[in-house]
Amino acid sequence: MSEVVVRSGGSADSGIGLLACLDPLLREWLPRQRWFAGKGRPVTGFTLVGAAELLPVEGRLGLHHLLVRVHQGPSRPGDCYQLLIGSRAALPPRLAPALIGHVEQGALAGRTVYDALYDARPADVLLEALRSEARVGGLCFERDPGQEIRSDLVPRLVTSEQSNSSLVYGDTFILKLLRRIVPGVNPDLELPLALAREHCPRVPPPTAWLRAELDGEASVLAVLQPFVRGATDGWELALRELAKSEDFCGEARALGRATAEVHQALARALPTVTLGHLQMEALVDGMLERLESAARAVPLLLPYVPALRSAFTALSDLAEEGRTWTAQRIHGDLHLGQCLRAPGGEWSVIDFEGEPSKSLAERRLPQPPLRDIAGMLRSFDYAAHSAGAPAPEWAAACRAAYCTGYAQVSGVDPRTDPVLLRAYETDKAIYEVVYEARHRPDWLAVPMKAIARYTTPADRF
Ligand SMILES: Nc1ncnc2c1ncn2[C@@H]1O[C@H](COP(=O)(O)OP(=O)(O)OP(=O)(O)O)[C@@H](O)[C@H]1O
Ligand SMILES: [Mg+2]
Repeated sequence: MSEVVVRSGGSADSGIGLLACLDPLLREWLPRQRWFAGKGRPVTGFTLVGAAELLPVEGRLGLHHLLVRVHQGPSRPGDCYQLLIGSRAALPPRLAPALIGHVEQGALAGRTVYDALYDARPADVLLEALRSEARVGGLCFERDPGQEIRSDLVPRLVTSEQSNSSLVYGDTFILKLLRRIVPGVNPDLELPLALAREHCPRVPPPTAWLRAELDGEASVLAVLQPFVRGATDGWELALRELAKSEDFCGEARALGRATAEVHQALARALPTVTLGHLQMEALVDGMLERLESAARAVPLLLPYVPALRSAFTALSDLAEEGRTWTAQRIHGDLHLGQCLRAPGGEWSVIDFEGEPSKSLAERRLPQPPLRDIAGMLRSFDYAAHSAGAPAPEWAAACRAAYCTGYAQVSGVDPRTDPVLLRAYETDKAIYEVVYEARHRPDWLAVPMKAIARYTTPADRF
């Protein structure tokens, strides 16, 4: 294994010794973390990928940055996680939720270790390192010289459910620390930087970021962005309006405009390609395969399979007739929860990491922008069907308003390409059925209703 062991002011051995003394505690603690992706499979061991001492362990408060490969049996190489480990003689009560455990032996013997993101001092250390563009061990803290980072901002950990961890500094910045680290260019930094170069106002421009080498590739570990103060996310806002039976069309139109602004800026900033028959065949084959495997996993889908299949074959028929599509970089996982509305009404789009279950190479491929649009349309449908009483007319009005907003900015109404749009919506709904059947059976009815609707001959956009 080509693991790099780095440690500031110490030897590789000391990093490995550190991991050895944490090993029994991490085996218990890691699988309990919301962001740990390998739930359900026992942890069988760890390999150190990188270790950097950010505050000396001899002090009142020690701070280590670790990149740790977590092994879960011999079949897979194991995912790499980013950990910030604090150590103290004893934990004050306010840090109780951060407890990892008491170390019995080794470099940290006698100390209590904890998730340092809960603690203000380590959070300050991270911001200061970004501000001063520090190099510690293999960690490269970098920043945009054009943005100021004040040093007196009070940090707090975001406690809502997340697949990464975020710290907010004085309602001025938000630092997203990626937890599962994959080697290579991460769209969560790549796309916001590209959008900032295009002066796209819909995405908070990255202020600073942390990188390290992983498997020989520069990889993103964290991104600092301006914090949108007092914002409400689109999902929360939509549910609130639904609960009051309020119309959401104005916001849906604004979201359509925001999506088009982001797409236009991405198309200017990064390469676009034309998708012809061959590429569309590959796209359709993927959709058909996902349908077959979903129907095996969720037999409820079986009666709908022939009609669902025809949503996809209609797309290959078009491609066979010589129709082409333009593909570009897109958000990749767009839904209401990825949009923040500031109190003044301005929308921002966040979280460009794409679907974490896919490889970075796949996530970075140009795709038709309708894929993002289909994601948002599914999101309106989810909101409408998860509120107390289903509100299909509300969702239909949002869909239309969103497409109108998109067309106002881009000049292209997504409804003029109903075959591709329906194929993407269908593909997404099938994914949702599998996800809900596995994780949230109470929600299964939401995508199943969509499947039933999409397979009704009369259902057109
Ligand atoms: N620039 C910002 N301004 C204000 N709040 C933000 C900003 N960026 C993110 N947030 C808040 O932090 C939350 C998590 O951010 P983000 O979606 O990027 O993290 P994530 O770990 O990828 O989450 P998920 O697991 O939902 O994909 C958002 O839902 C939002 O509430
Ligand atoms: Mg995410």
